[in-house]
Amino acid sequence: MEATHFSSNLAIFLLGFLILFPLTISSVGINYGQIANNLPSPDHVVPLVKAIGATRVKLYDADPKVLKAFANTGVEFTVSLGNEYLSKMADPANAQQWVKTNVQSYLPATKITSIAVGNEVLTLNDTNLSGCLLPAMQGVHSALVNLKLDSQVTVTTAHSVAILQSSYPPSTGSFRQDLKSCISPILDFLSKTCSPFLINAYPFFAYKANPKQVSLDFVLFQPNAGIVDPANNLHYDNMLFAQIDAVYAALNRLGYKKLPVQISETGWPSKGDEDEIGASPENAKKYNGNLLKIIGQKKGTPAKPNVDLNIFVFAMFNENLKPGPTSERNYGLFKPDGTPAYGLGVSGIGVSGGNSTGSGGGSGGSSGPSVYLSPPVNSSNGYLAISSATEMIVWSNWRRFSMGLKMLMVAYLMS
Ligand SMILES: *[C@@H]1O[C@H](CO)[C@@H](O)[C@H](O)[C@H]1NC(C)=O
Ligand SMILES: *[C@@H]1O[C@H](CO)[C@@H](O)[C@H](O)[C@H]1NC(C)=O
Ligand SMILES: *[C@@H]1O[C@H](CO)[C@@H](O)[C@H](O)[C@H]1NC(C)=O
Ligand SMILES: *[C@@H]1O[C@H](CO)[C@@H](O)[C@H](O)[C@H]1NC(C)=O
Repeated sequence: MEATHFSSNLAIFLLGFLILFPLTISSVGINYGQIANNLPSPDHVVPLVKAIGATRVKLYDADPKVLKAFANTGVEFTVSLGNEYLSKMADPANAQQWVKTNVQSYLPATKITSIAVGNEVLTLNDTNLSGCLLPAMQGVHSALVNLKLDSQVTVTTAHSVAILQSSYPPSTGSFRQDLKSCISPILDFLSKTCSPFLINAYPFFAYKANPKQVSLDFVLFQPNAGIVDPANNLHYDNMLFAQIDAVYAALNRLGYKKLPVQISETGWPSKGDEDEIGASPENAKKYNGNLLKIIGQKKGTPAKPNVDLNIFVFAMFNENLKPGPTSERNYGLFKPDGTPAYGLGVSGIGVSGGNSTGSGGGSGGSSGPSVYLSPPVNSSNGYLAISSATEMIVWSNWRRFSMGLKMLMVAYLMS
């Protein structure tokens, strides 16, 4: 009796899963950094990525173990080429070898769709390195052309919002004057190769720098009066949208109105040093929970209401070997044992803690805050109201997300 009951429940869960996760589910991306010595093996990370509904993963390297583990999963990958390799990539032979080894050999089983060349290079203020950026991007792109992969793999680079000189109000957005000569040719390259412009945006930093003046509700997507941009009367009720629209304004100013923008990192830490005001599990839960909800609503920003947000949350795990303030090691949605870093309202998928090598990990490692998903799940029990699955279709996406997490977990534990 018990067994029958159990398996019919499983059938209902799986049916519910199919109903709740139609192919149109809005796509969440997640950054998977590995600057740690206690992370689960990539095989164990596959179900976690699926559980949070992420369809896109960004790596800070091209870790073979990860790329192999995700073969035939349908998950799209952005792999990265660390800043330390940039100077070598202008040489076509090096670029070709890198692409063959780190990209071509995994295709098509692992869906690598993009290569991020360097991370936040222009704001390191190292003119030598900055000078290597475009030639490296061109070298990698030429290699893709030679290997006939350029139609399926794009080449781009991720920037910090610190490339902006002005960002408030959003309509005044412009790039740093001293970087313009460097940025314009990169924008030209992106435009010609139909590649996206990537920006890492952390409202947390703005709050931490100025907690008395920046409204916490404004940065956490909580209800608040917001601000109106006097130039165009657009109303902003959260800082992330203001930052994104400042980027659009800066691109417009240089004539690149149509360049697609992706948020390659955003997130909120669940822990910080004493002077890191705002870093807490409660705030991380609000930031990431609200962010997911917004992504699920397929909302655009006030300046681009009809353009889907394309966001990679930072990050998958807390990374214990990251240097810098405590917050840097606490952006993860998950702890290294695979349980949620803070109250998602669901239990995580326990994984045996094999040691990853700690390979790669953000080359731009010093920057990396990331988001966290904390849908305030109503978890009176793990299965929730499966019987009302049809109603759930209209639930907000974060709800769906958390439901799916539970169902996946159950299926996983039962298998
Ligand atoms: C880089 O230079 C800009 C402009 O001079 C300055 O505002 C910024 O603080 C510098 N950043 C670093 C990391 O040195
Ligand atoms: C930049 O390159 C020049 C010439 O190779 C070298 O002399 C200089 O030390 C480099 N500067 C930095 C900051 O690496
Ligand atoms: C994981 O790595 C740490 C530090 O390198 C080491 O002390 C520990 O024994 C390792 N654990 C396993 C299971 O390999
Ligand atoms: C869960 O939902 C039920 C019914 O909607 C409600 O009565 C209960 O208070 C909720 N529990 C939590 C923890 O929100």
